[in-house]
Amino acid sequence: KQKLTIPAMQEMKQAGRKFVMTTAYDYPSAILVDKTDIEAILVGDSLGMTMLGYDSTVPVTMEEMIHHIKPVVKGAPNSFVVGDLPFGSYNISIEDAIRNSTRILKEAGADAVKLEGGVTVAPTVKALVNAGIPVMAHIGLTPQTVSQLGGYKVQGRDKESAQRLINDAIALEEAGAFSIVLECVPVRVAKMISEKLTIPTIGIGAGTYCDAQVLVFHDILGLFERFTPKFVKRYADIGKTIIDALSTYSNEVRSGEFPTPHHSFGLSAEEIEKMY
Ligand code: KIV
Ligand code: NA
Repeated sequence: KQKLTIPAMQEMKQAGRKFVMTTAYDYPSAILVDKTDIEAILVGDSLGMTMLGYDSTVPVTMEEMIHHIKPVVKGAPNSFVVGDLPFGSYNISIEDAIRNSTRILKEAGADAVKLEGGVTVAPTVKALVNAGIPVMAHIGLTPQTVSQLGGYKVQGRDKESAQRLINDAIALEEAGAFSIVLECVPVRVAKMISEKLTIPTIGIGAGTYCDAQVLVFHDILGLFERFTPKFVKRYADIGKTIIDALSTYSNEVRSGEFPTPHHSFGLSAEEIEKMY
């Protein structure tokens, strides 16, 4: 497949053609995604929960992000790879934001970075874009500030907070973001934002009118058990497949069914002679 570009994303929006994004956090999953027609991969800080067992995305560090982005870039040469900026890596100062984003591009090899926030992060987005760093924005349910939001819940439900989201989206587009993730916002708010903006919106729990969609790899495949938000559609139960395969292996070892001579190495008498 041909690697997606930022101008191509804009053209697809104009043409009303959707593009698709999922997450990947390691080499084998990146290889699998790269074999599909899914154009974009997010190495999300959701890896803190799906891969590292944290309770939220807040503890994720820059080192952890770099560690996971690198193998994804290697495994998915034909996909557009976005690396998440973890909490605390862009909020302290603009210098910090530029330094950490530069690491994600130079050291890890991603095509772009993503950060969370609206109007308040617009100056940071602008500085990053001026420094030559492509920025994907993320508004609505922003998991890094879940504590301030009072939990994982739909954002923009009343008129005031819906208007705030629209203002956020406009500020981010004006700051130079090349796309915006809309997470957990009402369909009609996402539709309004998608129509207002010239840059593509990428929905997750934001309905059908977004220009693209993103879902977490582990949620699509049934690999994350702890909780499943309403907006997730599970397309497979790979977790069960893995458990079945592992259990069969274990049973066969205990019964002596595995390994068979077929999986074992024979030695000729002559070869044994040579060893001693
Ligand atoms: O970290 C992540 O996976 C994300 C997506 C859910 C948008 O930010
Ligand atoms: Na994220």
